[in-house]
Amino acid sequence: MPPTSLGLVPGPLRLHLRRGRFTFDSATAIRATPGTEPAALLLRTLLAPATGLPLPLADDGRVVLALDPDLTGLGTQGYGLTVSEDAVLLRAARPEGLLHGVQTLRQLLPPAALSAGPVHGTPWSVPCLETTDVPRFAWRGAMLDVARHFQPVSFLRRFTDLLALHKLNVLHLHLTDDQGWRMPVRAYPRLTEVGGLPHGGAYTRRELTDLVAYAADRGVTVVPEIEMPGHVRAALAAYPHLGNFPDRRLEVWDRHGVCDTVLGVHDDALDFCRTVLGEVMEVFPSEYIHVGGDECPTDEWHSSPTALRRVADEGLAGPEALRGWLMERVGTFLTEHGRRPLGWTDHGDDLPESFTVMAWRDQEHGLAAARTGHPVIMAPHRSTYLDYPQSTHPQEPPGQPGFSVDLPTVYATDPAPAHWDAKESAQVLGTQAQLWTEYVPTAAHAEYLVFPRLCALADTAWSGGNDWDGFRTRLDHHRTRLDTLGVPSRPSTLHHPERNSR
Ligand code: ACM
Repeated sequence: MPPTSLGLVPGPLRLHLRRGRFTFDSATAIRATPGTEPAALLLRTLLAPATGLPLPLADDGRVVLALDPDLTGLGTQGYGLTVSEDAVLLRAARPEGLLHGVQTLRQLLPPAALSAGPVHGTPWSVPCLETTDVPRFAWRGAMLDVARHFQPVSFLRRFTDLLALHKLNVLHLHLTDDQGWRMPVRAYPRLTEVGGLPHGGAYTRRELTDLVAYAADRGVTVVPEIEMPGHVRAALAAYPHLGNFPDRRLEVWDRHGVCDTVLGVHDDALDFCRTVLGEVMEVFPSEYIHVGGDECPTDEWHSSPTALRRVADEGLAGPEALRGWLMERVGTFLTEHGRRPLGWTDHGDDLPESFTVMAWRDQEHGLAAARTGHPVIMAPHRSTYLDYPQSTHPQEPPGQPGFSVDLPTVYATDPAPAHWDAKESAQVLGTQAQLWTEYVPTAAHAEYLVFPRLCALADTAWSGGNDWDGFRTRLDHHRTRLDTLGVPSRPSTLHHPERNSR
């Protein structure tokens, strides 16, 4: 096992400590060899506020960044870091790997290096070491629901920074739901005029475009989600004709749960899906586009003459088949535009073949999807839904009612469980945390719920999740970093380490 004394989270695959330290001082420069400039700039951007060091780029710099496509053992996201007393060498096969290596270098410095303002009197040194670090899973993410409660883009940037610190590389933005629509769409301005009203507001296109770039600079891809054909009440409040009963007037929903108003399956509704996704693709360059798909009651389709005509015209078995029919068309549209459709699976067998699926209910649904050849992202609610409270302690701040998800459970949930065979496991792209925000009105509450459980998910997704004791030790050290960043910490009275230890 790599040493825990450095408190790296996520833990590295292999790390050997050496004698001595390398000191960053006012003379330290970065040598950015071709292609490594973004990582060099990130290193400077991250270290400058606290250290005040200039860290210029210079050909004779002693902090050397290098890209070498022949380092195939590092994959697309791994990196190698060698620190000696007189030089630092960070290498990777791809730029993403360098960005993760920068975060390691940042964590190796004293926690004060994460301060927002200048810190004086701290020697900015890192221990000499050799590490080769490669993630176990390619998809390591977090979903943030900005539909139920809107969060300003300043919080999204901070959240992105926190993901990057933990080498998480996907920010999945849940932009639309029954309770709100947060992304402006030029062709349908009322979506945000009407759908953005309750619980907050909406982003501008510029804010989202800038967020995508900000995240990319940190190795994080923003994956947008536009829900359909269920969870669309905010859109139907704005454009009633997109529903199944065009004369009906609806309000944006102010309750929680599953709403039985769903999208129509007529041509206007299909045009709407395609037009919205067209604009989404203009703003978000991500390979994957999430189109929801979960929790779609079919009651309205059973009583809508237009929907029943669609069933007959398409030769479908019944109104229940309309969800798959619509998702198929939406998936094809995305594929034709060079993207990959992504959706929530309710049962493991309910999305078209072209879809990558997020298994949100139980692990077994992920297994069912893997067996039929879907690439799978594991998001089982009992271990990755961080909107549930962290414990059953009576003083635990509230979250989604129902049950609690504690730190050891998050840590112990293997995205590709040991009882899956090699072929099934190979379908698993990775895992992500979910923060639904029905019960999360403020940024502080969001951060309270997310941490430290996100650290556990990041550790398991990156380095395997089989080092609970080591993780606990590393996390104790890592908490000083989170404190420095102002992340709210759990009161010690709420800790139940004995009960939780495995
Ligand atoms: C979900 O929680 N309905 C994806």
